[in-house]
Amino acid sequence: MAFIIANWKMNPQKASEAKALFEAVSSAAKRLNNIEVAVCPPFCFLPFLKPKKNILTGGQDLFWELQGAYTGEISGKMLKDLECDYVIIGHSERRLNAGETNEIINAKLQAALKSDLKPILCVGEKQGEELGPVIAGQLEAGLKNISKNQLRDIAIAYEPIWAISSGLGTGNPCKPDEALSAALFIRKILTNLYGRYLAEKIKIAYGGSVDASNVGSYLQNNQIGGLLVGGASLDADEFRKLLEKVNDLQI
Ligand code: PGA
Repeated sequence: MAFIIANWKMNPQKASEAKALFEAVSSAAKRLNNIEVAVCPPFCFLPFLKPKKNILTGGQDLFWELQGAYTGEISGKMLKDLECDYVIIGHSERRLNAGETNEIINAKLQAALKSDLKPILCVGEKQGEELGPVIAGQLEAGLKNISKNQLRDIAIAYEPIWAISSGLGTGNPCKPDEALSAALFIRKILTNLYGRYLAEKIKIAYGGSVDASNVGSYLQNNQIGGLLVGGASLDADEFRKLLEKVNDLQI
């Protein structure tokens, strides 16, 4: 079953718009049996968006401490209490805009797991960077002290920063064979860290300028089982088409 993470980023601007978009996504998703969708809205909309059958919710971030005097932060337990199943950790926009290091990301992964959330760990290189050392460094430091048992609950999202449609990216999509070789490289690093048996079971998603027209090309291999979708998840019609196409692939 393919999993699709909708990263709404800092959109939309009103709760009424968030509710309408979530309703549209829910009614499209409930007719489909081969997908699981996790909508990750801004925190303030979570109380209005109740998870349903195959449409779940997640946070776009969380804080590394579990509670206390941390002005402006959100804990994993708060997300759990709002019925979130997932949390995105280490998105490139947080690494670059909020200065998140691999050590911070590792602490956030630990906090998410303690809060019973499933983390989606984002990794990816900037334009002009060599993929290998960047991804290996992000995985090795990001997963420090994460046990084999904990790894089972973590999904990895490969998001080449240059391929993101807005913000820090160029909007040039990553070619499907480049995404596939990055996924194989991620599995190689996971194999070095945890052994082949477990490395092959970990879910890997691709993200960066995914839309209804190109979605199939990223999933036509047995390495990438999910997608992290930004811009296209804000357009109800585009996202419905994307979900239907993924569902038809019968992954
Ligand atoms: P995009 O964003 O789909 O708009 O490229 C993906 C992401 O940044 O998660």
